[in-house]
Amino acid sequence: MLGFLGEAIRNYRQTGAVAPSSRALASSMVSKLSQFKGHRRILEVGSGTGAFTRRILEQMTAGDRLDAVEINAPFAETLESRFLQPHRDANPEQVVRVHACAIEEADLEGPYHVVVCGLPFNNFPLELTRRIFSIMLDVMEPGGWLSYFEYLAMRPLKAPFVGSSGRSALQAHGDYLGDLEGRLNGQRRLIVGNIPPAWSVHLQAVAT
Ligand SMILES: C[S@@+](CC[C@H](N)C(=O)[O-])C[C@H]1O[C@@H](n2cnc3c(N)ncnc32)[C@H](O)[C@@H]1O
Repeated sequence: MLGFLGEAIRNYRQTGAVAPSSRALASSMVSKLSQFKGHRRILEVGSGTGAFTRRILEQMTAGDRLDAVEINAPFAETLESRFLQPHRDANPEQVVRVHACAIEEADLEGPYHVVVCGLPFNNFPLELTRRIFSIMLDVMEPGGWLSYFEYLAMRPLKAPFVGSSGRSALQAHGDYLGDLEGRLNGQRRLIVGNIPPAWSVHLQAVAT
């Protein structure tokens, strides 16, 4: 928790939160996993200190594989030592690994049935958000689910403080994410048991 706050102070734009996500948000974020049985391939993007990772690991069974991607080196090290290595030791028939790099640079072995994404998109330029969604959707199994979250009312709350170009950028972000929800069978759930409250958003990859 203190480590997380320190990284948030050092680099708020990339970290995008001052504390790890709650168990309630984590449960919603990993809820699509149960729709698939056997030899599931799971991608987690922006694992941080493992709030979602530990819930993913709890649900994994023999033959499943998890690729966790985390850009922040201290977070990636914590993830490996606290969760992945012990899980690997106890479950040698599962593959779990951390990619300590940006998702834009990760060498991924899709297709994935489920993508769980913790990235702070409202802190990113729209072009980066678009690029990252394109990367994630490209490595998904048709019919698979991509879950991401955003804090409640984040864009309206930020708008008075960012000037007119910032407001246009926030609007463009909202439009882009709204369009994805419309096209990709979007579902959302409000999680009040998180600080701050957040929407978990679920998108379904369509066959192309
Ligand atoms: C809002 S935190 C979420 C952490 C954790 N999933 C949670 O919910 O508590 C976002 C995480 O995404 C990571 N991150 C930011 N940009 C990234 C990128 N391009 N590729 C991979 N990870 C990134 C940050 O370092 C941070 O750990």
